[in-house]
Amino acid sequence: MCGIVGYLGKQQAYQILVQGLHRLEYRGYDSSGVAMISDSGALNIYKAKGKVKALEDHAKDKDLSGSIGIAHTRWATHGEPNDINAHPHCSQSQNIALVHNGTIENYNVLKEALTQQGYTFVSETDTEVVVQLIEYIKTKNNCSLFDAVKEAARQVVGAYAIAVIDKNNPDEIIAARQSSPLVIGIKDDEYFLASDATPIIEYTNKVVYLNDGEIAVINRKDGLRVFDIKSRSEAKICITELKMSIEELEKGGYPHFMLKEIFEQPKTLADCISGRISSDGKRVVLSGVIEHKEKFLNANRIIIVACGTSWHAALIGKHLIEDFCRTPVVVEYASEFRYCNPVVGENDILIALSQSGETADTLAALELAKSRGAFVFGICNVIGSSIPRATHSGCYIHVGPEIGVASTKAFTGQVTVLAMLALLVGQMKGLVSDETLEKVASDIRRVPLLIKDIFKMNDRIQDLAKIFTYAHNFLYLGRGYNYPSALEGALKLKEISYIHAEGYPAAEMKHGTIALIDNDMPSVVIAIKDNVYEKTVSNIQQVKARGGKVVAIVTEGDTVVSGMADYVLEVPEISECLTPLLTSIPLQLLAYYIAVNKGRNVDQPRNLAKSVTVE
Ligand code: AGP
Ligand code: GLU
Repeated sequence: MCGIVGYLGKQQAYQILVQGLHRLEYRGYDSSGVAMISDSGALNIYKAKGKVKALEDHAKDKDLSGSIGIAHTRWATHGEPNDINAHPHCSQSQNIALVHNGTIENYNVLKEALTQQGYTFVSETDTEVVVQLIEYIKTKNNCSLFDAVKEAARQVVGAYAIAVIDKNNPDEIIAARQSSPLVIGIKDDEYFLASDATPIIEYTNKVVYLNDGEIAVINRKDGLRVFDIKSRSEAKICITELKMSIEELEKGGYPHFMLKEIFEQPKTLADCISGRISSDGKRVVLSGVIEHKEKFLNANRIIIVACGTSWHAALIGKHLIEDFCRTPVVVEYASEFRYCNPVVGENDILIALSQSGETADTLAALELAKSRGAFVFGICNVIGSSIPRATHSGCYIHVGPEIGVASTKAFTGQVTVLAMLALLVGQMKGLVSDETLEKVASDIRRVPLLIKDIFKMNDRIQDLAKIFTYAHNFLYLGRGYNYPSALEGALKLKEISYIHAEGYPAAEMKHGTIALIDNDMPSVVIAIKDNVYEKTVSNIQQVKARGGKVVAIVTEGDTVVSGMADYVLEVPEISECLTPLLTSIPLQLLAYYIAVNKGRNVDQPRNLAKSVTVE
């Protein structure tokens, strides 16, 4: 995720570009920058780490003239957030500037080839490779910027939305997209370019959505033309008239970021998996693990420290790693671990699991373990945040900025990375057969599509939420891999609806908690077809026998539970170790709709913060 803005017209570009970046800041704010061709023909590039305000402070006494420009607010994927890695990136000749949203999977190969052609690189980003490739093609073929961008777009593999300007042609912006969005706003003889319509809507409601595999030429004299990159044929321009408000647009038309992020999960999990399971499905590639293979082979124990939702993902990680790697795993609340004088040392691996990478307790826990000789590995979402910078190695979950305080897509991203890590280390240790790896890896690849299937239940879950909106207490029950799913479902409900909810191991209920069950205490029971299915079924019967209402999450085609539970939500069949990726989805939606029915501030629930950087 990131934000791209462009302008070509009769006004001065700078204010339009910066205002547009502010509108897109929710998409990522690691750094931002602008590139403009000034009225005197200079290509001026200003960029700064941090929020757009930092850019404005940096640029305030500079030459901000020019009626053509591009701008970017970054969500880093390659290279930590700093001034050098900030976009726009410039070609070696300093003539061409480019901004990019997405990830280039073959950037290393291209970088190597360009280096051999004498190109040097100043940043760690994949993006810089693209602008150098464009310059290389333009020079070698002595062709137009348009033709060079078109050829470069055919050579890169991955996701990109790019906008490019050339100092020697101040009348033209070239834009192209593949898997990342780009919208062009049209107003008389002015053109606005952006990652979504949010920066455009205040100038015009007439937009053209660029399609995958298309390249656009925006020219001061000739206007807008769109071509298909592969076939070179000119595309028909389809103008859409927008009716949405700006606020709605930031959320992609969803009422809340949380709902948007729930529905983003097929895409974000595809991004999380991208490039990490080989095309033949036989290998998992996590470079942060592979580079420290010995550590993972010889570790006596793995300790996972985390908080909140990440702690629930950590519990699933324990099951995965012990199942596939037979390495003992201990899961600790980071806030407890850091103060209990833990036994930890050089034969331990400590995994710090954190969406924000800034949670104070988790950061302190990893520093303590590191000081006692442990190998510390980070699994985070925010590139270059404090935890990844403090660890020996790690890997990112790549699910894009998570704005809603209640974590959803980060949870499924964490579980997915933990599953891939367990498979990889298990195979390294010779404990996971090729067949097992291929089967589970194939199922991991199916998850995005299966989640899309689960979304078909959205209306039913919305109706179910109406029934339970006024409950005062909830019990969430699960076993094995889905005991943490029950904990996570309960936390989702608690933190956004303010209804008390408790996650519990289903079997543990009879040791006291069952005293709570009555008609006013509904239970959500995860009863998928696993090795303890029959036991969980009997737990449902125990709840029913005491007059409790039961919402059961079952495996598609289940005929037993549907005969006893009050409400049944089915999830597709998949490897048991991956079922939390599916069972968590209806629980996210149930919590969301109950909270909405109660009129709660879903994206910013009371008393909470997105990142708990204090103790
Ligand atoms: C989850 O919905 C909550 N927002 C909270 O429990 C969160 O998971 C916890 O604060 C940990 O945050 P982190 O993953 O950024 O470290
Ligand atoms: N992959 C590019 C980078 O890390 C672009 C990231 C983005 O979409 O902001 O700079």
